[in-house]
Amino acid sequence: MKDLAKVVMSRIEMLGRITDEPGRLMRTFCSPAMRRANDLVARWMRQAGLAVREDPVGNLLGHYSTSRSKSKIKNQKSKIQKVFVLGSHLDTVRNAGKFDGMLGVVLAIACVEQLKRKPTRLPFALEVVGFADEEGVRYQSACLGSRAMAGTLGASDLKRKDAAGVSMAEAIRRFGGNPDKLNQARFDSRRLLGYLEAHIEQGPVLEQQRLALGIVTAIAGQSRFKIIFTGHAGHAGTTPMRSRRDALCAAAEFILAVEKEARGNAGLVATVGQIQAEPNASNVIPGAVELTLDVRHQKDSMRKAARQRLRTLARRISAVRGVKGSVRLVQQTPAVPCSPGLSVFLKRSVLRHQRRVLALPSGAGHDAAVMAKITPVAMLFIRCKGGVSHHPAESVKIQDVRVALQVMSEFLALLARQAAGSSGAIGKTHAHGT
Ligand code: GLV
Ligand code: MN
Ligand code: MN
Repeated sequence: MKDLAKVVMSRIEMLGRITDEPGRLMRTFCSPAMRRANDLVARWMRQAGLAVREDPVGNLLGHYSTSRSKSKIKNQKSKIQKVFVLGSHLDTVRNAGKFDGMLGVVLAIACVEQLKRKPTRLPFALEVVGFADEEGVRYQSACLGSRAMAGTLGASDLKRKDAAGVSMAEAIRRFGGNPDKLNQARFDSRRLLGYLEAHIEQGPVLEQQRLALGIVTAIAGQSRFKIIFTGHAGHAGTTPMRSRRDALCAAAEFILAVEKEARGNAGLVATVGQIQAEPNASNVIPGAVELTLDVRHQKDSMRKAARQRLRTLARRISAVRGVKGSVRLVQQTPAVPCSPGLSVFLKRSVLRHQRRVLALPSGAGHDAAVMAKITPVAMLFIRCKGGVSHHPAESVKIQDVRVALQVMSEFLALLARQAAGSSGAIGKTHAHGT
């Protein structure tokens, strides 16, 4: 019998080679590489016995059911079979590692393969999902896939343009989806029992504590901004220093102020990750600079207070330097707690394999935070080397993958037992993580 942990690792290698940019991993929403990734993952899903479909925005779904009609948990009114969702995202950042997102998807497929080996009858269906976008690289707006599923992706999002001027609607159409049928991507929350996402920790805590796995308590809230400083372009050789309105110098001062602000406030992280100067020439004073700002904190009140201070800083720096500063909020998500009800099952499963359970918050954003709008969510963290993520050096041990797989299968078995015993009321036992 094949070692499923080895299968997971080899699939990770294969997905890690599917890229939009030769020489480094980058796969964005509805890109040609995403088409190839979806087709490959769809093949693995079919091999695992899943019924595969792609929703109108390019999310890949694999449906698995072991129930006969008699043993189904049914929604009293509509007699629809209940579904538990497992998954993560298939897109990546620029110059990415190969585990962020992808590990959660291939683990979910392997989990179904594992369940089939010890025929476990689940009184609910499973839906394995590979979300089409979590990172938000192409449209500067994250979690497009899970937002479509949760019903929070709207017509105004579809009008967003990428760097080449292609609207989101057009990108979806070229991919083979249908932006006019956004509503059909939406999940009926009454059908859902919950959502489990396995993901690399993307931080150093598990490794420091010598633990393979951890359980997520809550996902940090985040605010993302686009900031533009507009000054005056001019000749680099002839314009006296005192009469310049250099937009890049204003941006530089702001970036360092952001760093100082985050360093001075426990739990706050703030990042300027993208910057573009115009006209971007060595002998021209920069006339305009556009940058992104990402601000996160476990506590929404702390994030909101920091957001306000950073706006004030941008205004003050602009005034002193005689440039115009504009700060636009692009996207915002509140902190999201994981479901205590689901996490108890996860904890019990982890304790079978590890001497203790570590519960920790997630500083990274996840599809689980969006799915929490429609169903209880839980997250399993897997140790990664040096805590490194969003970097090609992302690395995970095969032993940790093996134990994660066991934990996920045992988690589903526990859930099944509870569901069978509670004759369909399982969803009600979980706190709703909104
Ligand atoms: C996604 O990985 C994020 O946290 O930005
Ligand atoms: Mn990521
Ligand atoms: Mn991720």
